[in-house]
Amino acid sequence: MPRTRRPVPGKAKSKLPARAAVKGATRVSAKPARQTAKAGPKYVYAYSEIALAERVAGSWDGVRALLGGKGANLGEMTKLKLPVPPGFVVTTEACKAFLAGGEKFPKGMWEQVLSAVSALEKATGKRFGDPDNPLLVSCRSGAKFSMPGMMDTVLNIGLNDEVAAGLVKLTGDARFVYDAYRRLIQMYATVVLDVPGKPFEALLEEHRSRRGVWNDADLPDEDLKSITEGFKKIVQEQTGRPFPMDAIEQLRLATMAVFRSWNGKRAFDYRKAAGIPHDLGTAVNVVAMVFGNLGADSGTGVATTRNVTTGENALEGDFLMNAQGEDVVAGTRKTLPISELERLMPRVDRELKRIARILEKHYREVQDIEFTIERGKLWMLQTRDAKRTAQAAIRLAVDLAKEKLITREEAVRRVKPDHVDYFLHPQLEPAARDAAKGQGALIASGLNVSPGAAIGQIVFEADTAEHWAQRLEKKVILVRPETRPDDVHGMLAAQGVVTSRGGRTSHAALVARQFGIPTVVGVTTLEIDVERRQMRTANGQVLKEGDWLTIDGGTGEVFAGEVETVVPDVTDPYLVELLSWADRFRRLGVWTNADYPRDAARARKFGAEGIGLCRTEHMFFESERLPVVQSMILARNAEERARHLAKLLPMQRSDFTGLFEAMNGLPVTIRLIDPPLHEFLPSHDALLRDITELETRLKLNDGDADALEKELETKRRLLESVEALREQNPMLGLRGVRLGIHMPELVRMQMRAIMEAACACAKKGVKLKPKIMIPLAATAKELEIQRAVLEEEAQKVIREQGVKVPYQFGTMIEVPRAALIANEIAEYAEFFSFGTNDLTQTTFGISRDDAETGFLSEYLQKAILERNPFATIDQDGVGQLMEIGVKLGRQRRRNLEIGICGEHGGDPASIAFCHRIGLDYVSCSPFRVPVARLAAAHAALEGAADTR
Ligand SMILES: Nc1ncnc2c1ncn2[C@@H]1O[C@H](COP(=O)(O)OP(=O)(O)OP(=O)(O)O)[C@@H](O)[C@H]1O
Ligand SMILES: [Mg+2]
Repeated sequence: MPRTRRPVPGKAKSKLPARAAVKGATRVSAKPARQTAKAGPKYVYAYSEIALAERVAGSWDGVRALLGGKGANLGEMTKLKLPVPPGFVVTTEACKAFLAGGEKFPKGMWEQVLSAVSALEKATGKRFGDPDNPLLVSCRSGAKFSMPGMMDTVLNIGLNDEVAAGLVKLTGDARFVYDAYRRLIQMYATVVLDVPGKPFEALLEEHRSRRGVWNDADLPDEDLKSITEGFKKIVQEQTGRPFPMDAIEQLRLATMAVFRSWNGKRAFDYRKAAGIPHDLGTAVNVVAMVFGNLGADSGTGVATTRNVTTGENALEGDFLMNAQGEDVVAGTRKTLPISELERLMPRVDRELKRIARILEKHYREVQDIEFTIERGKLWMLQTRDAKRTAQAAIRLAVDLAKEKLITREEAVRRVKPDHVDYFLHPQLEPAARDAAKGQGALIASGLNVSPGAAIGQIVFEADTAEHWAQRLEKKVILVRPETRPDDVHGMLAAQGVVTSRGGRTSHAALVARQFGIPTVVGVTTLEIDVERRQMRTANGQVLKEGDWLTIDGGTGEVFAGEVETVVPDVTDPYLVELLSWADRFRRLGVWTNADYPRDAARARKFGAEGIGLCRTEHMFFESERLPVVQSMILARNAEERARHLAKLLPMQRSDFTGLFEAMNGLPVTIRLIDPPLHEFLPSHDALLRDITELETRLKLNDGDADALEKELETKRRLLESVEALREQNPMLGLRGVRLGIHMPELVRMQMRAIMEAACACAKKGVKLKPKIMIPLAATAKELEIQRAVLEEEAQKVIREQGVKVPYQFGTMIEVPRAALIANEIAEYAEFFSFGTNDLTQTTFGISRDDAETGFLSEYLQKAILERNPFATIDQDGVGQLMEIGVKLGRQRRRNLEIGICGEHGGDPASIAFCHRIGLDYVSCSPFRVPVARLAAAHAALEGAADTR
């Protein structure tokens, strides 16, 4: 027998068909959501109907899409027989239909809601709008993906003057009743009726100050009652209508408001930032109220089932006694730590911990829960997967696997590359960062090319950086318009580097990643004046040499002043363990790009299995070598050149010996000289400037004429050579193998150094097989010729040394032609390494140095390019060439070893691609090695079943 709903005359009319609709719908249980025309779609599911929803939606993911995460999980907890107040969900389908249909409920929906309300009345034994035994409900948003606090919720629906009076009689607690009532009016007015919150807050404040209390909860009942009256007046004044006394009407309007909140600005912005689609809609949860504000044995709280900051296995959270829902997060009252619950309510505490374990076991994941205690009874109001810090993410994955809640595969899959990256660099302390932003200290931002936070005093020159850091023991940040190879010593001395020009693969970026120096490049709004040792920000702030600067290479932010940092630890035992699991799943080898023994050693510590790229030219830039290199380049004849090369030989030999020893038998790939020679000489403009200055000084008799003449002569000679070597497009000029063919004595010297080092190591018992890599080949003939020269030298050394050391020749595939004729190339190469920086550059015909701060960002903004091809391999173009290269190369030489050594070797998406096309290894900068190990495991595990 249907009861008469009170006090809602006229509502009864709609009740009968509504009930019929739901009953009809329930019967066709196994059918999909879109049902027969007769029954209409099922828009409402009780929490007890979760199994039905699962059958209809087909999967857990489907259930979450249909009922929203909050609704699905409340249903799931109901199924687990956990204490969840009864309730029901209005589906996201209804929301979508509502929003699409000009904010009208879809046909049949409201009838289904009414009938679900009746069922709720039955389940609770209370009645909606009945002053003698009233049912109150909350009306809560809840979308497929959690969007914490971004949409609306209204509590205590069903209260009106009559019900309030009845409830006072029933509970004998007027404070509780008017506390709940005034909350309803305020929430309802602001959420549903769009009344601004200010007048409500003002009235509360008035009462608080009159009573001299800090908390609303401390207001006596007569105040709460008069506040309730005041609130009703505010609604009348602001909307021209009274606060609705009709419980069903309250629910109807609240449901609409929650649906609408899907399109609210907050929710919209959040989705945009979090990459959540805009067309999912929110569900509405109607949940019977339980009360945490019923006195000293009641309360409410939020918690995570483990500590999500550190990963420790202990509940973490806050609660409040005698309070309702939003009080805990609102921050208006001082909360208690969850550990206090044990002391205050030991029985409830035990129960909460028991439930936490059940939930973790069921979801196989750490949960974020909301609960309320009503007169000593615990009620669960929400559960969802908990958000966590990088540090906690790793520990939790390892712990859950050890507890056998998840497999090791899954543990590895759950940890994201960013989580690992976090351990490799200092970080800004999150609260300090926010505070700095709040104070306007964020002065600029640029490209986030090398992660980690750094603090230091600004210097504008490499020499100053080195001097301040080493002699004066200051922490410095090197700020330059751009960096050149001869700035490296300054970069190494600095905590961090900022440049106003240059892109993701600019010199500064490459060096920074290589050495793990936090760096922001392409900060175009900074006007750097090296001469005057100052820089100006977009809004005119001037920072001088010596001023403090903080940068975040992970976000690209630049702050004036000092922002606090924290230093995570790579030897974290959980990280070490997780990565060792990852190693077992991956097929790709992970090698490193290292030019010096100390990088090689560091990379090995991070798990590198070889050196995939040693850039020999970096060794030429060291301060005692550069003059020799310059003299070698400037030599007027072969003899002179030979003399200088002979000086370089022992230096290179010791470099290689160091590398071989550091890698102790692991593969070491040495690339012969690659860059155009002019890079080793001073810049054309600087020389011109110097010459003019010297000429002027001579004219003015400023200084010793002889000395000036001599210097002028040197500079003029340099300028002559620089002009002779000058090219319009140096990156497409005399470099790589072309240089080796043009100046064979140079690569011969390198080959000799490699082999002499190898023989010496072999004599000492180090097992090794150097891999000699020839850069930038475009034809097989180039390789044939170059290889013959090198082979001859290698054999000579072996004869001289009297030890046989095996070695291999290979080449870099970095121009499209090489990929297209890879079968011919493989004739002369025993291994390939894709140099994807140059390959991207030559495939797109884009200069990476200029494009990233220029038109490329415009292309990305306008979505002409989906991703920066210098950061992630362009699979359609560059990737296709790689595939061709792999296929043709292995056609000619079945066991051809193939790797990648461009910047992409450390990028997770690119690593997945390399795995798919069958490369043998990726090689990346030492600081990316741990990330690459994880990403390679992900690539191998990809496609394996991922269950709930
Ligand atoms: N029926 C109810 N009885 C008691 N408290 C409730 C009830 N429904 C909701 N609450 C409490 O009200 C507060 C707000 O609810 P709700 O969870 O819907 O929104 P939220 O927590 O602000 O956002 P989110 O959508 O991220 O969960 C929570 O603390 C919740 O526990
Ligand atoms: Mg919530």
